[in-house]
Amino acid sequence: MLAEPRDLSALDSVRPLRWQDDALDVLDQRRLPHETAWLRCLDADAVCAAIRALAVRGAPAIGIAAAYGAVLAARAGDFADSVARLRAARPTAVNLMWALDRMSARAACGADAEHLLEEARAIEAEDLAANHAMGHLGAALLEQGAGVLTHCNTGALATAGFGTALGVIRAGVAGGRIARVYAGETRPWLQGARLTAWELQQDGIIATLIADSAAAALMRTGAVQWVIVGADRVAANGDVANKIGTYALALAARHHGVRFMVVAPVSSVDMAARSGDAIEIELRDADEVLTCGGRRIAPMGAAAWNPVFDITPAALIDVLVTERGVLHKPDAAGMRRQFGAMHA
Ligand code: MRU
Repeated sequence: MLAEPRDLSALDSVRPLRWQDDALDVLDQRRLPHETAWLRCLDADAVCAAIRALAVRGAPAIGIAAAYGAVLAARAGDFADSVARLRAARPTAVNLMWALDRMSARAACGADAEHLLEEARAIEAEDLAANHAMGHLGAALLEQGAGVLTHCNTGALATAGFGTALGVIRAGVAGGRIARVYAGETRPWLQGARLTAWELQQDGIIATLIADSAAAALMRTGAVQWVIVGADRVAANGDVANKIGTYALALAARHHGVRFMVVAPVSSVDMAARSGDAIEIELRDADEVLTCGGRRIAPMGAAAWNPVFDITPAALIDVLVTERGVLHKPDAAGMRRQFGAMHA
C-alpha cells in the first residue's frame, strides 16, 4: 500500500521544554496523555528531581534540561555542586554528561549565567537541527510503502523537537514512504503507549500499538520492514544502549530479515566506552514492574528486576544514523572513521 506525501512542517507540534521568566518549564511526561501540565523548575535541584522522576526523559531532552539546570545553578552561585548532582541524576544516557561537560567548559572559561544561557539555547537548537538532518538521512533509506516498528519514545518529547527515530518516521510519513507505523507499548513505564501514541496523534499520525511481547509475531506477518529506535549511548564499537526491549527487537528482526536502524545524535556517542559492557545500565524501582497505572498487579511479596535499558550488540544493527551521516553495519573501525576519538 502506498501512502500520500504530507507537509513535514505540520508534523512537529510538540515541545517538551521551555525557558521562560528565568525558569525552566518541563512538560510533565508522567501525566501524559491524559493531562498536559507544565512543571516549573526554579532551581537546579528541581531540574534534577524532574529528570530522576522522568517528568522529562529521553537522552537528548535530559541533556538539554540539565544544561538549563546549570544556568539556574550559576544564577544561584552554586554551579559545581549542582552540576555534580545533575550529572548523577541518571546514569545511562551520555547526553546528560555531554551537555554538562559543555556547560562546565564554558563556566571554566569564565562564562557568566547569561553566557551559559546562550550555551544551553545553542545545545537545544543544535539538537533540533540534528534531528531534522537525521530525519532526512534515515527516511531516504526506507522503501515506498514500508512498515516500521519503533520502541519507547524517541520523539519531540525526548529531544529538543522532531525526534530521532520518530524524526525518521515523521520524515518518512511526510515523504509518503511509510504506510504503517507500529509502536511497542514499552513496559514498564509505557513510553510507547502513553507518549509515542499521543505525540504522533498530535500531528495526525496514527500508530498501531502492540504489546512488547507481540513484536516477533508482528515481524512474522511481514507487516514491518524496519525497526527504528533511538539510543541513550553508542559505544566505540557500535554497541547501543537503549530502552529495555531493544535487544529483543534486534534479535527478532535479524531472524525475520527485518532491518534494524538506530538513530541518535553525535551527543549520544561515547567513544570512551569501548563496548556496551562499559555502559552503566540504570536499575529502577521494582514497583515500576509490580504495578501498572498506579495499581499493584503482582501479589504482595513478589520481587521484580527492573533494568530500564539494555545493550544491543553492533552486529545486530544494520544502520546507525547520526547528523554526520549513515554508517552501515557499525563496528569499531567505522565508528573511528565517523567519530574519531571524541569524548576519549
Ligand atoms: O527511560 P527513558 O524514557 O529516558 O528512555 C528513553 C529511551 O530509551 C530512548 O529510546 C532514548 O533516550 C532515545 S530518545 C531520542
